[in-house]
Amino acid sequence: MSRTPRFLIRTYGCQMNVHDSEKVANLLHHAGYRAAAEVDAADLLIINTCSIREKAEHRLYSDLGVLRSWKALRPGRVLGVAGCVAQQEGDALLRRFPFVDFAFGPHNLRLVPEMASAAAEGRRTLHTSELADVARFDLPERHPDYQGASPGRAYLTVMEGCDMFCAFCVVPHTRGREISRPADGIVAEARALAARGVRELTLLGQTVNAYGRHDLRRGHGEAAGTLAFAELLQRLAEVPGIQRIRYTSPHPLFYDEALIRAHAEIESLCPHVHLPVQSGSDAVLERMRRRYRADDYRRLVERLRAARPDLAITTDLIVGFPGESDADFRDTLALVRDVGFVDSFSFKYSPRPNTRAADFPDAVEAREAQARLEQLQDLQRALTLAYHRSRVGQTCEVLVEGASRHGAGQASGRDPHHRVVNFALPRESAARPGELARLSIVEATPHSLIGELDVAESVPEVCSAVKRDARTADGTGRSAAVEG
Ligand code: 5AD
Ligand code: SF4
Repeated sequence: MSRTPRFLIRTYGCQMNVHDSEKVANLLHHAGYRAAAEVDAADLLIINTCSIREKAEHRLYSDLGVLRSWKALRPGRVLGVAGCVAQQEGDALLRRFPFVDFAFGPHNLRLVPEMASAAAEGRRTLHTSELADVARFDLPERHPDYQGASPGRAYLTVMEGCDMFCAFCVVPHTRGREISRPADGIVAEARALAARGVRELTLLGQTVNAYGRHDLRRGHGEAAGTLAFAELLQRLAEVPGIQRIRYTSPHPLFYDEALIRAHAEIESLCPHVHLPVQSGSDAVLERMRRRYRADDYRRLVERLRAARPDLAITTDLIVGFPGESDADFRDTLALVRDVGFVDSFSFKYSPRPNTRAADFPDAVEAREAQARLEQLQDLQRALTLAYHRSRVGQTCEVLVEGASRHGAGQASGRDPHHRVVNFALPRESAARPGELARLSIVEATPHSLIGELDVAESVPEVCSAVKRDARTADGTGRSAAVEG
């Protein structure tokens, strides 16, 4: 091909998948590809799939139905399938869909340029082997032409895989065993990102706060180059230019004293944790193999809030897990109310291949599961709105993400608590994407906050110069008003 080949990646699923797509996009930039604005302009299309619930998996099959003609429309077009469905079903996929050129799992991202070249020569490839080696974290730095998905913030992989084997979850089967990345590589990547203007890092791992635990327990920490998670946070907090740190998703089991203290002591650690609880019933938690009881979770929340009183806690919940009784479900409602989650993702249980729960008896009837989901979501809506209302009158700092969905002259960003704040932009230069801006919160809506830009304090040039100095030194990480 003499002209520059164009690629497009369609991503389903979790932040891990979003970040895997970024890694693939970066690899393709290094291989000479550039992004296509839309699917019709693409020579190479990759679907990065999710198999966490059946519905997510079905998206691939409906996409493939349409993509047969996309592929046929122009000779030389290449179609690849990535992610957890490819990992589990790759072989069958290639057999069932002859127009799919290659499939690969989450451990084989680096082979994408090679698979695309093979496809151009008419060879179909499948790569799903598990690479139980930290070498898989060694990917090239961001290509100068690759901006990343959102200005000012970036995902950073610290560990991958999962050894927990919760009874409902397919992830340990698709993403393989838990493995932690050496700290030096993580810190080097953080520095490189900061040099490219990234201010907010989200550390990623399937059980992110289990980082380093295997090495530590075996006394291998030093040899493996890993640390305790709280120490890793501390090292990242020292990287100049990084002003916000988040991590997702932690498992309640892996909070130690040091990590709780980190929430009190590390200024740039954001006052938000997404802490999946799944159920508020001890009997269900036990059958889910979550390894904690509802009261353990409540106590953990108390300890975290003692360290960081304004901490916003969000969660994941499953309703209709096999054997979940009315009383079990009421326990979930009670826990949601007690904790006062700021937000939650809730799902109807969906049996997944190879998981323990797939064989459990006592399935909850679909209509009952739907009714429970709606009741839970009604409760959450009320809690979210109450939280949003409690924020009206406060000021906050948002990382500007760009034009809001509400049209011209509007922008949006996330505050440190991870809430979306929409605000009017008096002029284009008042707050640029990737910059931090100070706002007063003036209104609460069910899904977001509405803020007013403090223009005098948010002119980007002024803001970047004084921002770091303007942070309070009270150990809470809350920012003082920028004295502009
Ligand atoms: N059915 C329904 N929800 C699931 N999740 C994971 N596996 C399943 C399943 N089989 C949910 C959990 C998890 C989130 C990412 O997806 O709540 O935290
Ligand atoms: Fe799945 Fe449980 Fe591992 Fe989370 S901790 S990825 S829910 S097995």
